[in-house]
Amino acid sequence: MKTSTITAVLAIAAISAGCTTSPTRSRNLADHNVPAKTLAQQVCSNCHGIDGNSVSPNFPKLAAQQEEYIVAQLKGFRSHRRADPEGYEYMWGISRSLSDAQIKGLAAYFSAQKSIPPGPGNPKLVAEGRKIFESGLPAQGVPPCSTCHGDHGQGNGQFPRVAYQHSDYVIKQLTVFQRTNERPDGVAMKAVTHSLSDKNMEAVAAYLQQMPSK
Ligand code: HEC
Ligand code: HEC
Repeated sequence: MKTSTITAVLAIAAISAGCTTSPTRSRNLADHNVPAKTLAQQVCSNCHGIDGNSVSPNFPKLAAQQEEYIVAQLKGFRSHRRADPEGYEYMWGISRSLSDAQIKGLAAYFSAQKSIPPGPGNPKLVAEGRKIFESGLPAQGVPPCSTCHGDHGQGNGQFPRVAYQHSDYVIKQLTVFQRTNERPDGVAMKAVTHSLSDKNMEAVAAYLQQMPSK
């Protein structure tokens, strides 16, 4: 399923590479003349949604994500610095030939979209999750998430927006930070997640998916 999606996307890219379509309609990932908005709407949209509000939790939401953070992650995939398995599987190929200007344009496009809540988080866990987000878990040495991600989870610069993110994706990334070095820019998150239990992760992720957001 995963592989077939990538194959389909790459096939589309390959087909348009062979055509003499105008740059504004081309999906050719290797052509630096293709405007970022065209790539966003014709390539990225297949997984992340046309407005960055992905439907499937397999794909992180990009809508209203911090521009600086998106730039950093795309460059991280392009240089293979961010090496978590799904980043490797899905994003290394896609980012390989993007120019810095295209990356900037893609980040501007997605950061300007409005984030729509993907649906309520697990109602049994939301209250506990809110506590972790706002107050941390002092007994476990976990700082409040809001310190870096903002009171409304809106993020700031290199600190990503986490509000309305799919909870499955959040849990996956918390696990990556805690158990691997596959996201070396997440040293802060390594300390934060050090003593989080699976249940703590599920709770905070449930809260982020539905938190009252700005
Ligand atoms: C075939 C599906 C697919 C396509 C097409 C795709 N992505 Fe992704 N993208 C993913 C997946 C899956 C992840 C999550 C990887 C992970 O878990 O590390 C991801 C992650 C990202 C991230 C990191 C998000 C975060 O919150 O850290 C950014 C930024 C991103 N993609 C941008 C793009 C852009 C821009 C395009 C178009 C040029 C694009 N993607 C096309 C599947 C895709
Ligand atoms: C000391 C600052 C800091 C604190 C506190 C913090 N974070 Fe983070 N967080 C970051 C930074 C910086 C990144 C980006 C790492 C990167 O670029 O790889 C990040 C990334 C993340 C991501 C990945 C986002 C994505 O789109 O892939 C999630 C999820 C996350 N943090 C959740 C949390 C939660 C939940 C808490 C509280 C338990 C928390 N963070 C506390 C700094 C912090």
